[in-house]
Amino acid sequence: MENKVISNVEKFVKEKLEQERSGHDWWHIARVRKLAIEIGEKEQCNLFLVELSALLHDVIDEKIEEKTRIELSQLKSFLNNLDVDVRTIQEVVSIITSISFSTRSSLPLSTEGQVVQDADRLDAIGAIGIARTFTYAGSRGHLIYDPNIKIREEMTYNEYRNGPSTAINHFYEKLLKLKKWMNTETAKKMAEQRDEYMKRFLQQFHNEWNI
Ligand code: ADP
Ligand code: NI
Repeated sequence: MENKVISNVEKFVKEKLEQERSGHDWWHIARVRKLAIEIGEKEQCNLFLVELSALLHDVIDEKIEEKTRIELSQLKSFLNNLDVDVRTIQEVVSIITSISFSTRSSLPLSTEGQVVQDADRLDAIGAIGIARTFTYAGSRGHLIYDPNIKIREEMTYNEYRNGPSTAINHFYEKLLKLKKWMNTETAKKMAEQRDEYMKRFLQQFHNEWNI
């Protein structure tokens, strides 16, 4: 039963995100799913809920291009049609609506939610994180870097979404903070090497910039 749900959801998400070009493509989802299971195995939690939420964590997000996004109501009926029980549906919805940066709510996350959020954050740092940052910046028409655009260490949500930024600023505005924001010790450890690598990249970038 759980396997059937997972394979149906996987197929659905793959098709949905096929056209996504802002860094939330299927392979982001596949990496987050794998990382979430890896972290989840070390924590006491429901791995079915972790895998399901990881697969679905980006399809309702407002950052996703409109043509690849779905409404919450659509998602609920899709899961309902797969005979997922109401409680699990509620838990998945609660996890995916609260983990994204934009819709971050003040409600405490369940352990499963913390695990998926950590996996999503791990995929935003390190070499993969660097690649995704420039893809995202390109998709929004942002510059690689502009020393005249100030780094905003503390930002409101609207500033974060709409203010002028550059790909390099994004590292200081968000990515270098993610290691300390990890919920689980497992993810914190996994973040270390990725964080170091980003710092080395930034150092090299500024050395080469030389203007
Ligand atoms: P997530 O999949 O974690 O919800 P986001 O939607 O916040 O990620 O971002 C998708 C990718 O784009 C991430 O790698 C993130 O670091 C990057 N990104 C988000 N906002 C910006 C920005 N303003 N400039 C550059 N990269 C960004
Ligand atoms: Ni994501």
